Amino acid sequence: MQVGRWKRVTRVSWLLIVVVVLNACAPPREVPSDSDEDTTTSAADSYYEYREGSDQGTGKFYMGREIAPVMGHRGANWLERPEREETELPSRVVRAMNLQPSDVVADLGAGTGYFTLRIAPEVPNGRVYAVDIQPEMLSIIRERMRKRELHNIKLVRGAPDDPKLPDSTLDAALMVDAYHEFSHPREMMVHLKEALKPGGKVYLVEYRAEDPTVPIKPLHKMTEQQAKKELTAVGLHWRRTMDVLPQQHLMVFQRPMP
Ligand SMILES: C[S@@+](CC[C@H](N)C(=O)[O-])C[C@H]1O[C@@H](n2cnc3c(N)ncnc32)[C@H](O)[C@@H]1O
Repeated sequence: MQVGRWKRVTRVSWLLIVVVVLNACAPPREVPSDSDEDTTTSAADSYYEYREGSDQGTGKFYMGREIAPVMGHRGANWLERPEREETELPSRVVRAMNLQPSDVVADLGAGTGYFTLRIAPEVPNGRVYAVDIQPEMLSIIRERMRKRELHNIKLVRGAPDDPKLPDSTLDAALMVDAYHEFSHPREMMVHLKEALKPGGKVYLVEYRAEDPTVPIKPLHKMTEQQAKKELTAVGLHWRRTMDVLPQQHLMVFQRPMP
């Protein structure tokens, strides 16, 4: 009797041990197995954060800044508003770039070519790459080039994460009121850096977020500090911020010499 009870106890103990060991080997239920993993997440996505954003924002954040939505081509007329001459002094932007006749320049996020068409006559022996992701914008520029008989502009349909420019060719790149709406700012700047010649410069123009009197929605403005943080993150060097425009920062970055 005593021996029979002892055998039963031993059998139950072994059963318990087996159950415990099996449980320890099984994957915990709340951790997804390999097949449940989200394979669409790429390494590049780790630069970005997705959370609830502001009204009309994208909910996609880069280095703490919410990326703005892309301005559609239906807003093209707004880019050509006559008062822009006075409020944004585009001739001052072009003068600040100190272009040489044979320079090769890119206008990233060229829109209707407001700046491309002002830069092209300054580089008669060089070239301007007008880059945009919207073919409708490029068509507007094509028509304007034709009317003005400008032959040194090359239109480039960029991808949201790649301006599709040849390596080490640019003396300068200009981004006016465009960078803050790039959906993949990091990838765009990595490619831009490669497209610049060593020593080539980036001119970044963005509405001043530090100034509440600038009548532009916060999502479409940038602080100087934020712009510096984002562009230097890809290895560009900040050179100076020129205080020459009424509403915008004009910041100069440079691809370092090897
Ligand atoms: C507000 S508009 C500014 C246009 C022009 N720079 C100007 O100042 O008149 C911004 C332009 O950037 C373009 N854009 C947005 N994301 C882009 C990207 N990743 N690469 C190239 N262009 C882009 C948009 O299609 C739009 O034409």
